[in-house]
Amino acid sequence: MHFAFPPRKTSNPPPYAVRPSRSTPMLRRNQLRLLAIIALGLLSFIFIASRLFRSSSGSAQSEYIPPGTPPVVIVTVLDPKGNPSFNEMVKQNREHYAEKHGYTTFFPNPADYPLKTAPVSWAKVPAMRHAMTLFPHSTWYFFLDVHALIANPSISIEEHITAPARIEELEIVDVPVVPPDSVIKTYALKGDKVDLIICQDHEGIGRESFLIRRGEWAKYFLDAWFDPLYRAYNFQKAELHALEHIVQWHGTMLAKLVLVPQRIINSFHSDRAGVSEANIYQEGDFIINFTGCDQGGKTCETVMRQYAT
Ligand SMILES: *[C@@H]1O[C@H](CO)[C@@H](O)[C@H](O)[C@H]1NC(C)=O
Repeated sequence: MHFAFPPRKTSNPPPYAVRPSRSTPMLRRNQLRLLAIIALGLLSFIFIASRLFRSSSGSAQSEYIPPGTPPVVIVTVLDPKGNPSFNEMVKQNREHYAEKHGYTTFFPNPADYPLKTAPVSWAKVPAMRHAMTLFPHSTWYFFLDVHALIANPSISIEEHITAPARIEELEIVDVPVVPPDSVIKTYALKGDKVDLIICQDHEGIGRESFLIRRGEWAKYFLDAWFDPLYRAYNFQKAELHALEHIVQWHGTMLAKLVLVPQRIINSFHSDRAGVSEANIYQEGDFIINFTGCDQGGKTCETVMRQYAT
């Protein structure tokens, strides 16, 4: 069949046919745009909120560290009532060293802390906590007893001890955390996961020279160590025995602690009797421990002054 003309449109449209509307798709487009804007707004809100939350939760990596922040704070508790020339010698020893490496020093007075009847050696614990509030952006806090000197100021704490690779090289793994025979042994830790660096000597854990990394764990550790229960307990060796207790019986402590060889932070002065040759100070060592320096009619000041830099 062949049609000469296209079929004609009817001249009588059905009376109630719906007129094709132009406003409906316009409305839909507007609604879509509105929806997109709302979605975008929501997404950016979530993004900003998550950024805010992350920075306030204090992740060490993304945190802003003000320029000029000393990376290390050296803390020595100094009794202002002590011999002034001895105190001055100890202060200068730390200050010269700190200046050389851009660190800082802090010499708190033990009387500033509420020790009540607990032995004054406990002061080191609140002193470290105090240092963290005074220098809230520093990375490491190095406690060093007054009867010890920095004997080699050219050594930097980072290279000598705290660089993660260096920690992994130094850490002493799988030994009783409290010598000689604790059943609790040290773990192998990743260098960047370590928050407490300490050594042992023939008497136990060396509580007079240790390093703590700033962070939530450090605060928890110091608060747990300073527990009033421990202070009142009258451990024979005060805070040392409290420390030995918490590192052995609280797994969260052991999980952040490494032992390093004694001569890294605690070489013994040669005057000391009954000490193994391997732990006696040798030229170039970082720290000399003068415990017992006031024996045999000498004063600590005269013994120490020969090494004071
Ligand atoms: C020095 O040695 C004694 C033990 O003989 C120890 O208790 C003390 O923690 C050591 N001091 C330092 C600064 O390491």
